[in-house]
Amino acid sequence: MNISNSCFLCLDIGTTTVRGMAHRIHDGRIIKSAMAQSEEDDPIVAITTVVDDLEQQIGGRLGTAYVTGNFGDMIFDVTATQARWRGAHKITATDIRAQVAQIPARDGFHPMHIIPLRYDGAMTRNMSTPIGHTDTALVSLFADISYGDAVIAQLMTHLRRAHIQTAGLFDPTFLLATALPRGKGTHMLIDMGAAYTTVGLWTARGPVWIKKIPGGQSALVQKIADTFHISPPDAARVRRMISIPSTEMDRFTPADVLFDFSRADVADVILPEMEKIIEAIKSMAGPFIAKYRPQKILLYGGAAAIDGMTDYVSSALGMPVENLGADAAVRALGQMIWAMQAPRIRRLAARRERLGRIGRWFMAPWTRRSRPAARPIPIMPSTLAFDMHDDTTYSLFRAAGISMIHVDIMDGFFVSHVAGGIDELKYIRNHSAAHLSVHLMTESPAHWAIDTINAGADTVIISAGTAGVREAITQIHRRGRRAGIAISPDMSLGILKDILRDLDVVLVMSVRPGAGGQEFMPSALRRIATLRATRQKYNLKFEICVDGGINEKTAPSCWDAGADTLVAGSYLARATDFPLAVMRLMPGRKK
Ligand code: DX5
Ligand code: ZN
Repeated sequence: MNISNSCFLCLDIGTTTVRGMAHRIHDGRIIKSAMAQSEEDDPIVAITTVVDDLEQQIGGRLGTAYVTGNFGDMIFDVTATQARWRGAHKITATDIRAQVAQIPARDGFHPMHIIPLRYDGAMTRNMSTPIGHTDTALVSLFADISYGDAVIAQLMTHLRRAHIQTAGLFDPTFLLATALPRGKGTHMLIDMGAAYTTVGLWTARGPVWIKKIPGGQSALVQKIADTFHISPPDAARVRRMISIPSTEMDRFTPADVLFDFSRADVADVILPEMEKIIEAIKSMAGPFIAKYRPQKILLYGGAAAIDGMTDYVSSALGMPVENLGADAAVRALGQMIWAMQAPRIRRLAARRERLGRIGRWFMAPWTRRSRPAARPIPIMPSTLAFDMHDDTTYSLFRAAGISMIHVDIMDGFFVSHVAGGIDELKYIRNHSAAHLSVHLMTESPAHWAIDTINAGADTVIISAGTAGVREAITQIHRRGRRAGIAISPDMSLGILKDILRDLDVVLVMSVRPGAGGQEFMPSALRRIATLRATRQKYNLKFEICVDGGINEKTAPSCWDAGADTLVAGSYLARATDFPLAVMRLMPGRKK
């Protein structure tokens, strides 16, 4: 991973809130950071809102995302594995890897983090690392945090549709315990989330117990809404405003004349719910608290921001509380990534050793699984040239690492042919998790845009010169998808002037729209270069994509002129070796 001059994104995708933090790196230093959050119901809309906001603030494109959040069902386990050798044996990293491989796999779950807790040899006990020691046996104790496939797969789909590539998923408890230096001793971590309250006990060595207890802030909000007959958004507002336990008896006035109940009334509703959560923590964590004797509680998650929560939790559990705030997980993620990525920065050198060691363990199992490439392949096959009802097409795309597909739709009016359509798009959506960029060669773009989004489009590109372009773009953005305009060879670029700022993609047509297999028009090159210069001059962010007549001869000129992505139809469809043909179109190859 080379992030020496780039921007990286950290996302905390919770049940009700998406929080993001972006960092801009230049010459090995973070020169800019930004934060954003969204509470949209649709997760894709929430993610894209956060990404757009951050790109705006940071003035750059975000490519790699690191993610934490609510990954659904979790299993925490501690496993001992062992090895015995005939005679003295010098222990290597491969031996440790073999021990990690012995950790039993559970159906439908895979380990996100594997953390060594203890290593004992026949001769040396309790080694900090056994590598390099000579011994006849080794017993290793590993903690593992595993998550179910279902939610992870769903999350990856959301991220692909939001057009960012992910490089890693991190459990929030893991981040809080390891990324922020907390000194020695045992800590109790309490994450007050929307659907779950997660409790963990973490010694200086690693986690000894973690549990996701169902029940959290959503239940509180629901209770407030039901009791006072107010809408869920109002209830969420009240929940944020309330202090627990309340000493103030005043009403929510004058700013909130709406509410005819007092803070004390709300406290009366919330307190019993909070007590239930505390009771659950006490009964489940009790034996572990008694055994490991944590010195303090680290409190974080959405509800940590409620007034008075620190004191309430502290007195309910009889321990000092350090409140890390609602955005602690996303901050910790940024720090962890930075500490891993910038080991040469002296300021972080001391922490690096510890993180580097843990880092290897959790990256190792993760990288063995299929992980999306750090950067998407900037080549999109055009559906016009392929049989999208044939399974082999999808295997071919997967084999070549294709993660974006260009779906052509022609209505027989804007162009004379009819091709593609909503049913075909739905079929493709059901057979591929790739980012679907839909090219509408149709009249009535707003109408088509809504239908294509409902059928699974991630990016919608409408044709310049049709009626209702602006309305279509508003509709596309309102639904959290990326919006683009295709500009035909005979149209002046000037017609894009007023709308360029709102576009995510400009599709430069290098053939007359309407058919595949035509010859590339070199006039497109000047248009690509002009668009690139304009984008730079006005600090815009649209992607420049080129469509029509792309082959191994025309692609290099497009990259040189400033294209970001290319669409290819007949060239790829004719290829006998599809992955090789994709490679031949990639940037950086000789003309
Ligand atoms: C043309 C379509 C293109 C077409 C490209 O109107 O928009 O996407 O499929 O095909 P080739 O690469 O064959 O020109
Ligand atoms: Zn097209």
